Amino acid sequence: MSVKGSAFQHRGVVAAGAAALGALLLANIYAFAGGAASTWLLGAVVLTDMLAVGVGIAVAAREVMIAERRTGDSQARLDAIVDSAMDPIISVDEAQNIALFNSAAEQVFRCARAEALGAPLERFIPQRFRAAHRGHMQQFARTGVTSRRMSESATLWALRADGEEFPIEASISQAGEPGGRYYTVILRDITLRKRSEDTLQLQQHAMRELSARVFEAREEEKTRIARELHDELGQLLTALKMDLAWLREHLPAGGGEIAAKADAMGQLLDQTVASTRRISADLRPLMLDDLGLADAATWLVSDFAGRSGVQCAIEVSGDGALAELDGTLATAVYRALQESLTNIAKHARARHAWVVLRAADGEVTFEVEDDGQGVAAGDLDKVRSLGLKGMRERVAYFGGTLEVARAARGGTRVSARVRARKEGGK
Ligand SMILES: Nc1ncnc2c1ncn2[C@@H]1O[C@H](COP(=O)(O)OP(=O)(O)OP(=O)(O)O)[C@@H](O)[C@H]1O
Ligand SMILES: [Mg+2]
Repeated sequence: MSVKGSAFQHRGVVAAGAAALGALLLANIYAFAGGAASTWLLGAVVLTDMLAVGVGIAVAAREVMIAERRTGDSQARLDAIVDSAMDPIISVDEAQNIALFNSAAEQVFRCARAEALGAPLERFIPQRFRAAHRGHMQQFARTGVTSRRMSESATLWALRADGEEFPIEASISQAGEPGGRYYTVILRDITLRKRSEDTLQLQQHAMRELSARVFEAREEEKTRIARELHDELGQLLTALKMDLAWLREHLPAGGGEIAAKADAMGQLLDQTVASTRRISADLRPLMLDDLGLADAATWLVSDFAGRSGVQCAIEVSGDGALAELDGTLATAVYRALQESLTNIAKHARARHAWVVLRAADGEVTFEVEDDGQGVAAGDLDKVRSLGLKGMRERVAYFGGTLEVARAARGGTRVSARVRARKEGGK
């Protein structure tokens, strides 16, 4: 018998069948209820009924055959898909014994399918994770969720037949079938990816440490020069001023021209002292080391206001905690404040700036806000701009976060939060 397609797919066949059954029903009613007298008519109707039953059985048998063949076809198709998948696919039954193990699984786990089928899944899980895995499977079965990714956060580990452990990424699904419940895991061997991620992380860590060392070395150098300018040069200039004052006192009477020259020298000396102080403070405000971050920040803001003409306000809280800050962290925060203020002078066209510096609960936070034109999209990605990038890098080094956003007042708001003590004792 040709069983290409179901008879119920053709409307004409269904309509003809329904019409024939209707006619047969009418004939039955007429023959048995209508009181037909002739036995040949009754016989003919009974014969037709039997024929119809026979045809019905034949049609039903054909439909069952078609359905079975379809199921067989789709099963074969599914088997081919599963077997050609690039990722390992493993199904287990309720007892956690392997019921399906595709070709990719054979390769990745280095285990022949015949050996894997029927074996407990735990064979492919490192010993130390087996108990946790059992718990997760029971939990997953209880949730009734059909599918989900296994472990979003921690790395999952699997075990090859030869005992080698390897990291995986996996999703799991469950389905109830007539033979029981089955769990299917589709997984991916991420050894190479994890290796490159680990290498990248190590390199990033090394780069961050290197940049921290460079930053510190630069600060040390600046501090040394600032101190020398302040102490050595400052003392020499003071001595010169005293000598000049002595000279002026001992000038012979009537030496008008010499006195004028001495006055001019005095003015030049005052300017030189002021310049030396400014250059020294720009290099590194010694009060950062001597008086602490709170005083240094307050001085920085008022110095900036005086030089830039931007009206500034600063609010400092937690002086005690600020005074105890590690020197490198205090320097990093100071430099971040300095860069934020320099940016306001360079880019913001602001009239006001507000600075907040707080230390509380083991954290240091600072905010610098202006009412200028605000940062535009793309400003932060400028290749040659290093100020904010450096700031972000320094803040990250201390395990903190930095945000640059549009301020409520329309300008720019730079805010950062760092731990007061770097993890690892730094
Ligand atoms: N307060 C601000 N107001 C407006 N725009 C700002 C402000 N701060 C930063 N920007 C924008 O963000 C960009 C990046 O700032 P960043 O400090 O990283 O670099 P820069 O100041 O241009 O150069 P560098 O700091 O390396 O000397 C700036 O070029 C500017 O366009
Ligand atoms: Mg800048």
